[in-house]
Amino acid sequence: MHVLDLTGILNYLNAIIIGLQQNKLDQETAQMKKPHQIYFEPFKIKMVEPLPVDNPLNPFAIKHRESILKETHYNLFNVPAAEIAIDLLTDSGTGSMSQEQWSALMLGDESYAQATSFNHFEAAIKDVMSLDFHVIPTHQGRAAENILFHVLNSVAADAAVNGGPLRRRVLINSFFDTTAGNVCLHGPLKEEDHDLAAELLGRDSYIFRERDHNPMSWRRYEAELKQSIFIKQNQLVVDQTRPELFEHGIFGGNINLDRLEAILGSDVARRELMLVMLTVTNNTGGGLPVSLANLHAVRELIDHYCSNDEVWFTGLPPLMLFLDACRFAENAYFIQQYEPGNKNRSVSEIAREMFELVDGCTMSAKKDGMANIGGFIACRSEELMRRCWEYMVEIEGFYTYGGLAGRDLEAIAVGMREGVDDLRVAQRVEQVRKLWRWLKDENVPVKSPCGGHGVFVKGRAFWTLNGEQIIKDEDLPGHTLAIELYRQYGVRGCEIGTIMFGDYNPSTGKPSRVAPDEDYVRLAVPRRVYTDTHLEYVASALLELYANRRSCPWRGMRFSYRPDALPHFLSHFEPIPA
Ligand code: F0G
Repeated sequence: MHVLDLTGILNYLNAIIIGLQQNKLDQETAQMKKPHQIYFEPFKIKMVEPLPVDNPLNPFAIKHRESILKETHYNLFNVPAAEIAIDLLTDSGTGSMSQEQWSALMLGDESYAQATSFNHFEAAIKDVMSLDFHVIPTHQGRAAENILFHVLNSVAADAAVNGGPLRRRVLINSFFDTTAGNVCLHGPLKEEDHDLAAELLGRDSYIFRERDHNPMSWRRYEAELKQSIFIKQNQLVVDQTRPELFEHGIFGGNINLDRLEAILGSDVARRELMLVMLTVTNNTGGGLPVSLANLHAVRELIDHYCSNDEVWFTGLPPLMLFLDACRFAENAYFIQQYEPGNKNRSVSEIAREMFELVDGCTMSAKKDGMANIGGFIACRSEELMRRCWEYMVEIEGFYTYGGLAGRDLEAIAVGMREGVDDLRVAQRVEQVRKLWRWLKDENVPVKSPCGGHGVFVKGRAFWTLNGEQIIKDEDLPGHTLAIELYRQYGVRGCEIGTIMFGDYNPSTGKPSRVAPDEDYVRLAVPRRVYTDTHLEYVASALLELYANRRSCPWRGMRFSYRPDALPHFLSHFEPIPA
């Protein structure tokens, strides 16, 4: 062939390559969002904290993490934070505080009683939630739950002694595990509940046992109840496997109104209710929100069926409706974006409407309170507040500090107002959605629609290749995914599946009951901590892991030790070699 011809061909090929590159660039430009579609961070970065691991892909870093995993028995809760490049274990207490919060710390009044900081804290919560609320500080959300359920149960027990029905049941869209634990811990549950609940909710709805005062078997009971809650669908949420049933497509935290009405409409069942609760957003259900329409309907049903019922405790309505309000601002943002008629309302206006509909809430200020520690109970009933005071002084401290320093109260006071800032919450939820979109677009199996605080990756589907599940349910696919994501890429997520909700057969070292729906790995995004580039790395890591899943060195994980209580925090594991 003539030399000139060859040059010509090379030039021609080169032109094609340049053309292709140009095309790609054009496409990327075309994909660029319009300015109004870009939710940029509503802050500049003033102080930086170096990531503990500078290059997680360095082969030495990978070898090092392998030895750490061995030392920590393959439980990511045991891995030192200093060994983690990007930490998506939880969005609770892991956020960055603003300069206003840091300045407020200096104003902390550390007086034991009646500190000024308590007044700031109380005023902010009333301002953001409801002016009629009484506010009781606690050191975090689960302490608020502990106090509330202790008080409600003892009030219920007193009422029963005086001849009333024993109110022992809490209806909720979806329990977080500490909430379920606290309901059980104080609850005088009885065997016959099983039949009643089964009749109302379907055979497999509840498992109840006589309360046993032996703490270890009580622990086991608690774990069993939690499993039943998850596995037996003992929660009044809409069926999340049928998105067409979601109101407006996304409100997967909504309580099932038909089931609720069936219970409220039964004289026997209604008189056994202690509380109705809505978790906003629904953490264990993928962080999906509850709609305003659903909240209004729940309120109306309670008013309709209960307003003529006897009062079982002076100062309380016959049946109260509470929010588990940890992520209320994210919930309000979803309402603003997706529920017709709310587009032009601010997040704070919507949040006020949500709280006007309820009798109170428990809250972990470590989420939408934008603080690193803290929580509270807020309620309309002065009587309830006084009863909570009596118990809280024993376990949390005086009622104006509740286990917190004055400076923490100040940080929460500022954080509560920042939490409902429209730009703040929009950027936060949209950043989570960006991570979800990167994964979803490349067919990595993720729970859809995307919730507010994290992306839930489906462990079983992740390890499925050409229709074959290469890591079986009993070999903990979710946990294996979480371990691989850490081992290969230095990213920490949290299994929300069989370890948390399944059980364990000591003779095989394997669960005999696995998580019902999916074996999820939750990638919870801390607030104001990571940039989009950090999350792009996480997405890219998952894509690579997904593409290479056949070469995973493990066939799964098995338990080498599993405690009765809190298995996901305390269990030990070992890998099953491929
Ligand atoms: N309720 C919900 C819905 C929660 O998500 C949490 C905590 C709590 C109550 C308890 O609050 O931690 O302050 O005692 N969730 C964290 C998580 C731990 O990772 O989802 P806390």
